[in-house]
Amino acid sequence: MEIRFVTAGGGDVVAVMATDGGELLAAGKALDTASSGRIVKAMKAANFKGGAGQVADILAPDGVDFARVLVIGVGKSDAADGMAVERWAGHAVKRVLTSGAEKLVLQPDALPSVSKAEAGSHAAMGARLAAYRFDTYRTKLKPEQKPSLTAVEISMDGPAAAKARAEKDAAVVEGVFFARDLVSEPPNVLYPESFAERLRDLETIGCDVEILEPAAMERLGMGALLGVAQGSSRPARLVAVKWNGGSKGSKPVALVGKGVTFDTGGISLKPGAGMDEMKGDMGGAAAVAGAMKAIALRKAKANVVGVVALVENMPGANAQRPGDIVNTMSGQTIEVLNTDAEGRLILADAVWYAQDKYDPSVLIDLATLTGAVIVALGHENAGMFANDEDLAHAITAAGQAEGEPVWRLPLSAAYDKLIDTPNADMKNIAGKPVAGSIVGAQFIKRFVKDGTPWAHLDIAGTAWKSGPYEDPLSPAWATGYGVRLLNRLIQNRYED
Ligand code: BES
Ligand code: MN
Ligand code: ZN
Repeated sequence: MEIRFVTAGGGDVVAVMATDGGELLAAGKALDTASSGRIVKAMKAANFKGGAGQVADILAPDGVDFARVLVIGVGKSDAADGMAVERWAGHAVKRVLTSGAEKLVLQPDALPSVSKAEAGSHAAMGARLAAYRFDTYRTKLKPEQKPSLTAVEISMDGPAAAKARAEKDAAVVEGVFFARDLVSEPPNVLYPESFAERLRDLETIGCDVEILEPAAMERLGMGALLGVAQGSSRPARLVAVKWNGGSKGSKPVALVGKGVTFDTGGISLKPGAGMDEMKGDMGGAAAVAGAMKAIALRKAKANVVGVVALVENMPGANAQRPGDIVNTMSGQTIEVLNTDAEGRLILADAVWYAQDKYDPSVLIDLATLTGAVIVALGHENAGMFANDEDLAHAITAAGQAEGEPVWRLPLSAAYDKLIDTPNADMKNIAGKPVAGSIVGAQFIKRFVKDGTPWAHLDIAGTAWKSGPYEDPLSPAWATGYGVRLLNRLIQNRYED
């Protein structure tokens, strides 16, 4: 689907904005005038109130060049931000994507806190994100199930500034799509080696990619990561993707991702119902991969390294047992009391490796770590933990701006005691159903060196959505959560 910026668009369908109370903005008013008041008449007949995402779908109004007019609400005009414009465009695209229409014209208006140029670029972003589909394995789609839309025109006066912004944003969209594709791929196709190969492709856009195999990890002492992997016939991989767009010698930002390409739970086997969702247990690694792609494509002036730990967590004759004690690269030992708390085990070694090898200025890990974070926050916010106030605030702001919100949860020594054990330096579960997400974060913290600003994002509830969550910018399953947040954070805080 092509995006074009034009001053006067023509096509099958046009979408305009309305605000709370059912007030048309300038573009809609012009259509209403052209149709001698039929647009407003139709809006009234449809009981349209302009709430965010509400749509008045008007067919064949007289006097306008479009066969279909979509009036879509953005909610209260003072509260409407760039994300509201994205969702507005997303609703329009989703409604007509497979409708038979080939060309959609979006007529965004400025809002009190969104300039015309911003409205135009956000409209493009929303249109692109909403058009994402994962149809790789659908061989029998009927013509009417396939996207008919081939072009979206963003129609506005003086589109140059919006167009320039949208061209930069296209890199971010590519990153989000990369993450969504990775999360969507089935686990027989995407496993540690094949994931690593997809990261290898980032070399073509200027990244350095280094892939560690089990022998190298063994030499480094990564017993926790290898312990998780040992039950699978698929060998583990640890991949570092580097982008050196910043000044020479300045310390990199390190992004670390949990990449469990399938999590059965191991010997502590998960129940069968819904286990297929655990193909998405590499959502943290996917977010890191997508962020690296975005920052490389837009040639960010920053040094960033993405480290992903890739394993498959399987039961089997060689699988690790509850009670096993493993060594980590840091030298600390872990008693594995539940093989389903595997994310923290692989992160223990990946987080240590990222610090040991790259001496980063800041470390951020992303992981679909705990079901408990879904209990706490649902699918609306990721859980954030941080040992640094400024970093926590910057992440919160980046997530807010990009529609990927986080909610901070506490860390403290009092929770840390829950993972003490007489048998080793620590155990991998608390052993009672309390503060599950915090315990996971406290565990990872034991592998963060003193003085390293660090944040952990538990994205178990946001990497994918199951159930009735209608998001105009996302498909039903993989969201690509984290790519936009990380890209924004790097842009705001770490670029020269
Ligand atoms: N991958 C899961 C967490 C998860 C659950 C992600 C649901 C997405 C949706 C993780 O490896 C896991 O199994 N965590 C356990 C930890 C427990 C054993 C301490 C959990 O959340 O039950
Ligand atoms: Mn698990
Ligand atoms: Zn897991």
